[in-house]
Amino acid sequence: MNKTAHNAARATRGPAGLGADFAPLDIHAQIERTGIRGRHLTFIDDLSGDELSNLFKTAHMFEPFWRSRVPLLEGKVLCALFFQPSSRTRFSHETAMLRLGGSVLTESNPLVSSSAAKGESLHDALRVISQYADIMVLRHPDDKEVLATIDGLGADASPIISGGYGDVTHPTQGLLDMYTAWRALGGSFEDMCVMIATPDLSRARSGQSFGLGLARMGVRLIYCGTTGLRTPEVIRKKLDKMGANYVEHNDLTLDQHEQMIADEGVQLVYLPGCSVKKGDPGRDDFLKKMQAYHFNLEGLEKLKQKTGRTIGIMHSLPRNEGEFDFAIDDSPHQLYFKQIGFSVPLRMALLASIAGT
Ligand code: CP
Repeated sequence: MNKTAHNAARATRGPAGLGADFAPLDIHAQIERTGIRGRHLTFIDDLSGDELSNLFKTAHMFEPFWRSRVPLLEGKVLCALFFQPSSRTRFSHETAMLRLGGSVLTESNPLVSSSAAKGESLHDALRVISQYADIMVLRHPDDKEVLATIDGLGADASPIISGGYGDVTHPTQGLLDMYTAWRALGGSFEDMCVMIATPDLSRARSGQSFGLGLARMGVRLIYCGTTGLRTPEVIRKKLDKMGANYVEHNDLTLDQHEQMIADEGVQLVYLPGCSVKKGDPGRDDFLKKMQAYHFNLEGLEKLKQKTGRTIGIMHSLPRNEGEFDFAIDDSPHQLYFKQIGFSVPLRMALLASIAGT
């Protein structure tokens, strides 16, 4: 660049580029800014827009360390108490805690090997574990029981992060999905449009948490489901209360989904997956309906030609054969394995912000 061009560029940037908050990066100050120390996390909308933004900035600062170690929680203990099976949620909280220099207690089969097997109440279990652990992550099938129990705990209870309660909430999944979307689309939620598509929105707790968090940031949402299996009322009330920008469609064909993606400027399609467990009498029907959501690589490539956009496909995993075209795995549309990587710095940020000193 010659001197005249350089001066012109400098004049354009000007002193307006400098803000009062201009300073070297400081991870401790950023964790403080998140402002959620000591809090339980039950629903993703327990967090304000500012808290979410600060959490993602904190996660970004942890990203260089997600494969190494930054011992900000040395001496702290995390208890992972899982009343339902899990790979990702439990392992990634545990990985995050270990990367932060803390220690982990795990109970992944409490109805067999903890005192829950002897009839101990959830209330008593959580009060007891609070004497050992500085922070907990809990997965439980009964959201109503958990919410009532947490409400009745005293101030001496350690903070409890939901690792998924019932069919309605899985906030850390929503947070890691939001963080992935934020990173994938350039560190902003502005003008973002996301489609959440599954035959069963009534049991899609990861998709519901993602949607609720995105709504909090003003993202435009398109829910696609099937008649009779709507988003639970508790979530719709929350969306309506925050004035969310969302629409719901039912029983669309794959062609109609693709047309909508093109017309509405959808950038990301989220497939919350099948929460209908093996042995559930509705599972076969669910998997049949899944065929209407069989997003495939060919369709995505056609959309790219038509719109110029590389549509990102997100999924909370685990996935079932037949849910979507696994050829997407090795294409630029695949975000679902990348979400796993982003989950670690996000959960490091969450644990450090809640349990840090
Ligand atoms: N996505 C998710 O919650 O996976 P796990 O059930 O393996 O934790």
